[in-house]
Amino acid sequence: MATETLAPTTASGSLTHENGITWLVLDDPAKKVNTLSTRLFEWFEEQVSRAERERPDALVILSGKPDGFVAGADIEELQALKETEQVIAMLQRGHDLMNRLAALPFPTVAAIHGACLGGGLELALACRFRIATEHPKTKLGLPEVQLGLIPGLGGTQRLPRLIGVPAALDLILTGRQVDARNAERLGLVDDTCHPADLRTAAEQWARGKAESKPVGGLSRKATDFIARAPLADRIVFDKARAGVMEKTGGHYPAPLVAIEVVRDGIKLPLQRALDVEAGAFSQLVVSDTAKALMSIFFRKNEVEARAAKLARKARPVGKVGVLGAGLMGAGIAQVLAEKGTQVVMKDRDLAALGRGMAYVNERFRERAKRRRATEAESKAALGRVHPTVQYDAFHRVDLVIEAVFEDVGVKHAVIRETEAAAPEGLIFASNTSAIPIARLAEASRRPENVAGMHFFSPVHKMPLLEVIRHPGTSEEALATVVEAGRRMGKTIIVVGDGPGFFTTRVLAPFLNEAAWMLAEGAAIDQVDKAMTRWGWPVGPFALMDEVGLDVGRHVAEVMHGALGDRLAPPPVFHRMIEDQRMGRKSKRGFYLYEEEGKKKKKGGKQVDPAVYQLLDWRPGQVSDEEIVERCWLQMLNETARCMEEGIIRDPADIDIGVIFGFGFPPFRGGLLQEADRHGLPWVVSRLEGYAARHGKRLEPADLLREMARKGERFYKD
Ligand code: NAI
Repeated sequence: MATETLAPTTASGSLTHENGITWLVLDDPAKKVNTLSTRLFEWFEEQVSRAERERPDALVILSGKPDGFVAGADIEELQALKETEQVIAMLQRGHDLMNRLAALPFPTVAAIHGACLGGGLELALACRFRIATEHPKTKLGLPEVQLGLIPGLGGTQRLPRLIGVPAALDLILTGRQVDARNAERLGLVDDTCHPADLRTAAEQWARGKAESKPVGGLSRKATDFIARAPLADRIVFDKARAGVMEKTGGHYPAPLVAIEVVRDGIKLPLQRALDVEAGAFSQLVVSDTAKALMSIFFRKNEVEARAAKLARKARPVGKVGVLGAGLMGAGIAQVLAEKGTQVVMKDRDLAALGRGMAYVNERFRERAKRRRATEAESKAALGRVHPTVQYDAFHRVDLVIEAVFEDVGVKHAVIRETEAAAPEGLIFASNTSAIPIARLAEASRRPENVAGMHFFSPVHKMPLLEVIRHPGTSEEALATVVEAGRRMGKTIIVVGDGPGFFTTRVLAPFLNEAAWMLAEGAAIDQVDKAMTRWGWPVGPFALMDEVGLDVGRHVAEVMHGALGDRLAPPPVFHRMIEDQRMGRKSKRGFYLYEEEGKKKKKGGKQVDPAVYQLLDWRPGQVSDEEIVERCWLQMLNETARCMEEGIIRDPADIDIGVIFGFGFPPFRGGLLQEADRHGLPWVVSRLEGYAARHGKRLEPADLLREMARKGERFYKD
């Protein structure tokens, strides 16, 4: 028998029989990527039953999608789950199916090309063999912790049994995705191949290669681990727990639960271990943390879909010019080149250009070292950055991103110089932190081609890009900068123009409030610790040291000048700068910094006691609760004003902006989600109370009062 089509394309895939091998192609026509939706799952269930009855020589499972195997669970379905019992019933059905797949009495092969994540990887783990293509799109991982969950289809049990506990914990706790080669190194896949050879390779494993591999039971790595228990057990699990606590401050239950489930499950027979997993999953999936993280997932998709739509009118961009080779310019040039764009990076002096190129080079070396790219890819990417101190090469650029000093005069000069050297249609984007784009566009001959591209530092790590349109920015210019940002892999919010746009504007009163509380007698480390305990990645004083107090001063001046006394910077900043304390870069700031090369002291950063003397500081009574509240409420207050002015309107843009731009605690779901949780009447009454004690700057914005009066919320659901 040659080829027989057993089930033509159905709702979720197709099945063919070829010389004894059944080929099962997962392909949900309703979706761009396969997810383990109820529909796909039910169809797959039928196919496994069929295979049980018909007993082919082997079963190969592939995907019909060009770029993905199965990307994971259907998160919309997960988010709709309310009752623990309902979840357990669903998981048991899932486990039954995976067990039946694992028990098929003939070779089963998952032939993986593209994303094989979460439930997709768990399905592959229930196959006897896994083969993955050596292609950048092929990624394997269990990202459930990022949604506040643990793997729920056997991943916490089958993965450690296959690749050993330490490697499995690493993947489960970080949600890290690995490519085919790394997956093979870990023992997660049995073989790798070129995408064009996937079917051939799968057939070989289905027929012959299978015999050379031990089948079923625990792998060597896992049995070794158990043999060394309980000592190894203690060391590995305790270390994992300590690592998670350090990274998350205990705000995220899922990784801690995952550690317990792996630890308890590895000692049990698989069936009982799966019950342990189901019990834990069912509690997590209905928790507030998981709900918050899943809502962020949807909001991020919503924001990205909007950007994709906006980008449709983009003009093609070949070469990009970057002005300024400092921290931001070099960071922007590196990411552009990494994603395949030709870049001309210009600075005004050779020394700064040299430092910028050294930074770019270092980033590419690091990528090669971490196996994010091969040596050859990194070398090629570095070759795409052309350093220069002249404008000559700008006659062929389509887009310029400017990251020179934060000074209107300097920025106006470079706009004029660039337009003199570049082609007529050039689009000019500024990375200014706070200067209104319309003000910069005054120097341009074609203000309609000017927009803002506000990146965050370090550019290669921070996922957000704030795109600013001034009233005259054309649709085409806007689309072109949005598309450039998308190609750099950024999540983009598009906001209106004004001093500090959205992100800088709401960060300013937040940082100011921390400094006002220092003046009232709160200690520097008390403020920072209260904030990190609440879930911020760093406290406001540590952040000011990182950003640089001189940069902060520039921003504060722009904001104060434009928005008035509400944004007057506290005297603390001025005194710090007078004392040459610019933060980490000057090795003098709120904290003490060691000389380069010296070993770091244990116990984290120490506050520099000289700062207290400098500020004539006296300890006073400010509670941790007040510290946290005043900071986030002031951020919310300014956000409400941005909404009133139309700088930003959509709640999803706001929450994605604060989470991805400066790390608002994700488990809280975002600034507006936090406000909704407390209710606006509470928000208004707290702000009024603080305003009565500490001044008008804390008076609630009109929008907040109005929403509180009408009983409104930011989110409808
Ligand atoms: P930086 O001081 O590290 O770099 C500025 C670079 O511009 C220097 O290398 C300087 O030599 C060069 N430069 C000055 N005048 C020039 C000219 N006429 N032509 C060509 N190059 C010139 O500053 P950084 O931190 O990179 O900031 C650059 C811009 O990005 C500023 O507008 C800043 O507000 C903004 N920004 C900074 C962020 C940060 O975290 N540092 C975050 C987001 C925006």
